[in-house]
This record gives sequence, C-alpha cells and structure tokens, in this order.
Amino acid sequence: MKTEILKLLKESNGYISGQQLCDRFHVSRTAVWKAIEQLKKEGYEIEAVRNKGYRLVESPDIMTKAELESVINTRWAGKEILYYDETDSTNIQAKYEGEKGAEHGTLVVADRQTAGRGRRGRMWDSPRGICIYMTLLLRPEFSPVKAPMLTLVMALSVAEAVRENTGMDACIKWPNDIVLNKKKICGILTEMSTDIEGINYVVTGAGINVNQDTFPENIRETATSLLIEGGERIRRSGLIASVMARYEENYQIFMKTEDLSGLREKYNGMLVNCGKEVRVLEPGNEYCAHAFGINDKGELVVETLEGERKQIYAGEVSVRGIYGYV
Ligand code: BTN
Repeated sequence: MKTEILKLLKESNGYISGQQLCDRFHVSRTAVWKAIEQLKKEGYEIEAVRNKGYRLVESPDIMTKAELESVINTRWAGKEILYYDETDSTNIQAKYEGEKGAEHGTLVVADRQTAGRGRRGRMWDSPRGICIYMTLLLRPEFSPVKAPMLTLVMALSVAEAVRENTGMDACIKWPNDIVLNKKKICGILTEMSTDIEGINYVVTGAGINVNQDTFPENIRETATSLLIEGGERIRRSGLIASVMARYEENYQIFMKTEDLSGLREKYNGMLVNCGKEVRVLEPGNEYCAHAFGINDKGELVVETLEGERKQIYAGEVSVRGIYGYV
C-alpha cells in the first residue's frame, strides 16, 4: 500500500484526501496515516492539511523498493525489483537469484556495494547514497555467443536515459563505457550462466556515477559524474526508470533479428570512436587504426594504417583514443 500511496501522491498535482486513500485501499485512516509517516521517515516531504488531505511537496533522491516501484513503468524490465541498502555486488546477487529461478526482467539494485566488480577482474568503487548500482537478469532463448551483444544494448539504453534525464550529450566508448566530455560516467559488466542446452540466464550490471563530487586519485583523470558535469543533483530512481524503459524498447528491437542491425545506427550515432583514430589494445599486440563504428554483431570495424580492414571483438580487446582514454 505504501508504494501505491507514493505513486498516487506523485501522480496528483494537488491534495489527496485521507478518505480517498482509505476508500481506495479499503483501510482505516490510521493505516493511511501510518503509511504516510513511514514515507516521511524515509525522507519524503509530505504536507498534511486539515480538510484537504496529503500533498507531496518534495521527493528527494531516495532509494527504496517502494520508490523504485513507484517510478518504473515498464512491462517486464524491472517489474520485479530486489533492493538492498547494502550488498556485496548486484551482479553476484542477480546470479544468486538466477540460480533460484528469478524471472526474466528481475532488477537488482543497491545503494552501496562492498565488493563491486568491474571488467577484467577490477574492482568497482561503490560509495553509498550517490550512485547507481543495478543488474538486470535476462533469460533469452538464443545461443550463448549472442549474449555479449546485450552489453551494447544496455550501453545504448543508459546513454539514451542519461540524455533524457540531464539533457547532456552522453556518448558511448566502444564497447560499453558511457562517457561525458571524454570521461567515464558508467561501466557495464555482463556475465552469463550456461549449460548444455544453452543460456540459463544473463546478468547485465551497470554502475552509473550520478551525484559523486569527487573520485579516488587513481581514476580522477578518467572518471566523472553527472553532478560534476551538469552541476545538478539527479534523482537516481528516475534515471533507473528511464534506463529500464529504454532497455525494454531496445531489447524488443534486438530480439527481432537477434543482433544489433536494428540498433546499429543509433549506437554508432552516439559512439565517440566513430570516424576517429584509436589505439587497439589486444593482449600482446597494440596498434593504431581508424574506427568506423560497429557492425551487426557489435564488433568494432577498423582499418589499420596498412589499410587492412578488421572487425574487433570486445572480449579481450579494448580501445583508447590516440592521446588518452577517449
Ligand atoms: C567496468 O569495469 O567498466 C564495468 C563496471 C560494472 C560495475 C557495475 S555496478 C553494478 C554491477 N555490480 C557489480 O559488481 N558490477 C556492476
């Protein structure tokens, strides 16, 4: 009922009377009052005026299950939410839930991670209360070789959601970093469980730097946040809701062909590497090339200085700008 009351308060421009809420949920005035008190304790500013009712004055950057449920408006992506004030890693939790049979579209969100994980075994710094740590669990019925492309679907969805929520020009650095002004604001990590019959589940985790105003020394040069770049605090729940909405749409397009042909143009339109010189870092081999954009499989198409066209597969390879991270 708390989630429903929150939803109603958000949707209404003015006051909602206590009686309206009682009738709607078939509960007593005391029960309504208790739910309102709980919401206030969580940080919502709710005004109560005699003979008028309740009004949501301000809804700050709060993360709770009820808050997320009140803003996510999708058919399946993020419909089922598992929320933690603190957990080791949302990817680890999503895999655990995957083993227990969690359904396609389950979203795991945490306010803080104690063992956040990045790509290539690196750690992901995950302070409390200011960033987004979320992992979406999927159960696609296609060959495991196609699963890495879902990382690019998430990258595209995050970039679109950031643009929608901030008006800033978020771009993608191949394959799946989101950047603003040449610095990273989001990293994505996809993991998968398979057996002889195919995919059991895929989990795609995204860490978005939202309201951070400072970064550890070792990443200060390459990392930034939406707050640093835009000068404004962003409500994390709203951004998560946008990512889920964009993901649901993009996933539907992806599933029509089970590749990136329907999303390629959009993705390449946001790709910072498109038409640029890049340094390709393969294990034991580093070379410069001109990048054209991704193909339908999500590989980066490049031409080496010797004029050889190559398709690079993300797995072990990364790219940098000629002079720095982008
Ligand atoms: C990268 O190295 O760029 C990928 C970082 C992915 C971090 C996110 S935060 C939410 C999810 N849980 C994790 O432990 N990792 C991912």
